[in-house]
Amino acid sequence: MKHRIALIGFGNVGQGLAEILLNKEKELKKEYGYEYSVVGISDVAWGTAYNPDGLDIPSLLADVKEKQKFSKDAKNWDSLKLIKESNANVVCELAFTNLETGDPAISHCKAAFETGKHVVTSNKGPAALAYRELKEAADKKGLKFLIEGTVMSGTPVINLMEGPLAGCTISAARGIVNGTTNYILTQMEGGMSYGDALKKAQELGYAEADPTGDVEGYDARGKVTILANVVMGTSLKISDVACQGITKITQEDIATAKAENCRWKLIGSVKKEGEKIIASVAPEKLPLTHPLAGVMGATNAITFSTDLLGDVSIVGPGAGRTQTGFSILTDLLHIHRNG
Ligand SMILES: NC(=O)c1ccc[n+]([C@@H]2O[C@H](COP(=O)([O-])OP(=O)(O)OC[C@H]3O[C@@H](n4cnc5c(N)ncnc54)[C@H](OP(=O)(O)O)[C@@H]3O)[C@@H](O)[C@H]2O)c1
Repeated sequence: MKHRIALIGFGNVGQGLAEILLNKEKELKKEYGYEYSVVGISDVAWGTAYNPDGLDIPSLLADVKEKQKFSKDAKNWDSLKLIKESNANVVCELAFTNLETGDPAISHCKAAFETGKHVVTSNKGPAALAYRELKEAADKKGLKFLIEGTVMSGTPVINLMEGPLAGCTISAARGIVNGTTNYILTQMEGGMSYGDALKKAQELGYAEADPTGDVEGYDARGKVTILANVVMGTSLKISDVACQGITKITQEDIATAKAENCRWKLIGSVKKEGEKIIASVAPEKLPLTHPLAGVMGATNAITFSTDLLGDVSIVGPGAGRTQTGFSILTDLLHIHRNG
């Protein structure tokens, strides 16, 4: 079957995915029997393009590079109309993250399920705020709701649980799930002030102009909520997760930790205590011998505590155009194999 893809949001991740699909088209067909056409793209900045037989992706990428609206197959449609009326069988929701209401992404996902389309997303909004509801809506129609890219971008976390670690009971997941704060802490340990480290993170594109979501721990809290609900099968709300960021850590704290052979890390944690699930985000002073203490710069890592294997850690990128584009590809291949 040739998969028909609609992309909602054509920013870093949407373009990263489009480039991967183009570059790997032959390999995907040869190795996995995966054939696709991108039939629709809708983005607030570039407009909507739709062609039921497949869009000319290089030409649309060229438009974006020139910072101009889509010039081929342009339609005066918004994203919801594209989702509802296109012949796509899978919608990739790659628009902006809203951790307060989840919209417009939650509405995009609902519209896709109502019209019989799978959803793949790297958007934390729907996954952190409405996972159960959306998964049920998908299940009812025999559709997939796949969210690998929402935690640690393309580094396998959700699929690790559902694939290789299926059969293990997970009692805890602890990790560094925000690259920006880990980068800032790493730079501070090298002697930079918090302000300079933040400025450097902004220059490198790790931190947004308004860094609140990262430095106050809110981004990590969204990811911890996803881990709690998807990996531990509970139904926590974001507000159930205690949250403290890194803004109160001083250079003095860093120096004291160093003298004690320790290092500060912003740790997202979810664990079972009896029947209860406890989740939090907070800075922790870890001994240098701790596996998470060696994770430096913008890299992410999670350690899962399992009954059959003991601790299993995965380390890898937590963001990036290609890395998050890959998370979408891996879920598209999942649909191809199991959809
Ligand atoms: N980049 C990463 O490394 C990374 C990693 C993990 C997860 N994610 C998540 O993946 C998603 C996409 O990230 P990104 O980096 O590609 O973001 P981005 O570069 O900001 O792109 C998002 C695009 O979606 C557009 N958009 C906003 N509302 C829309 C709507 N209602 N309909 C259609 N398009 C809409 C935006 O247009 P305007 O700019 O004009 O509003 C923008 O062009 C986000 O939810 C993000 O949190 C990203």
